[in-house]
Amino acid sequence: MDSMMINKAAAAVLVSGIAFFMAGRVGDLLVKPQELTKTAIAIDMGAGGAAPPPAVEAPLPVLLAAADPKAGQADFAAAGCVACHSVNEGGKAGVGPNLYGVVGAKEGGRPGFVYSAALSGKGGEWTFENLNTWITKPAAFAPGTKMSYAGLADAKKRSEILVYLRTLAATPMALPAVPAGAVAATTTSTTSTTGPAAPPAAPESFDTLLAKADVDQGKTATLKLGCVACHSFTEGGKNGLGPNLYGVVGGKQASHEGFVYSAALKAKDGIWTFDTLNTWLTKPAAYAPGTKMTYAGVADTATRANLVAYLRSLSANPAPLPTP
Ligand code: HEC
Ligand code: HEC
Repeated sequence: MDSMMINKAAAAVLVSGIAFFMAGRVGDLLVKPQELTKTAIAIDMGAGGAAPPPAVEAPLPVLLAAADPKAGQADFAAAGCVACHSVNEGGKAGVGPNLYGVVGAKEGGRPGFVYSAALSGKGGEWTFENLNTWITKPAAFAPGTKMSYAGLADAKKRSEILVYLRTLAATPMALPAVPAGAVAATTTSTTSTTGPAAPPAAPESFDTLLAKADVDQGKTATLKLGCVACHSFTEGGKNGLGPNLYGVVGGKQASHEGFVYSAALKAKDGIWTFDTLNTWLTKPAAYAPGTKMTYAGVADTATRANLVAYLRSLSANPAPLPTP
């Protein structure tokens, strides 16, 4: 299904994509709702699918914590939502309902808009989870919906749009907390077969685990656990919500050029050894109370060892491994 859609989108891009991109944002072409065509929507999907999404998506609360509402406002325009929705308080309904205050509201409950039975019959609330599922593929969430929009494949863009929609309220609803459980639930399949709640009888030390850690699994973990939402890892990579992490092992803490750290982490004034990284990743807020890294932590020791082994590999001269 997905690959068929991507194929369709790719074909559409081949015939008319170049012209669209030259003309600028897809949103510009959607000034009139009547001009919405299958092609315009397919192109939109194609743009989302052009950069292959990571094999495993980060949990929604992690994506939301990292998302920028300003970027979401731009995405809302670029993805064509503006063609059908107004967002100002008391704004008129268009082809779609006004979206002020929609986060946390009843599904299909804006006054003065005639919804499809498909959506008004759901009877649920617009939680972040529901909105995320809805925007991924409206017709899957509410088969028969009037919202003729293929969906937005890019999880990062969706999370940005959600935090933007959240700002459209006198009292924005609280973001969901990043649960430590989400981290345990996304650890490697080998650990999940025994269950994250059942620790091994004789736990191996971090050093032992690090000595036999798997760099590739560490890299995969940065996707699964959402680190990639805030950090780049390549040499010379840009700072995002968090600093670029190339060469972090053995380097001075809170010292990456061009990144503004919290006073909490700067005050540590130490070196990122394997041990300090292990403690940090277990629970950032415990290691540096007041840190800007809004991340619960990685509960599984083997996963932390893999992460640290991966961070260690990001260097021309990786530091020697400890001898357990
Ligand atoms: C072609 C017009 C169109 C486009 C483009 C569109 N929507 Fe919609 N939207 C609608 C319609 C129509 C409905 C009502 C659906 C129903 O009644 O089944 C709706 C409903 C919604 C709702 C639920 C509102 C409520 O009161 O329950 C949300 C949230 C929403 N849209 C967000 C978006 C976002 C975000 C985008 C861009 C990614 C988008 N829409 C793009 C037409 C559109
Ligand atoms: C929500 C965004 C976010 C996520 C997700 C995140 N980080 Fe961070 N990270 C930050 C921020 C912000 C800082 C700077 C902290 C400060 O200044 O207090 C940071 C700092 C760090 C540092 C110290 C860097 C230095 O230059 O001193 C390391 C190492 C790190 N993070 C690793 C990770 C790993 C590994 C993960 C995934 C398990 C992760 N981070 C997930 C935002 C994030």
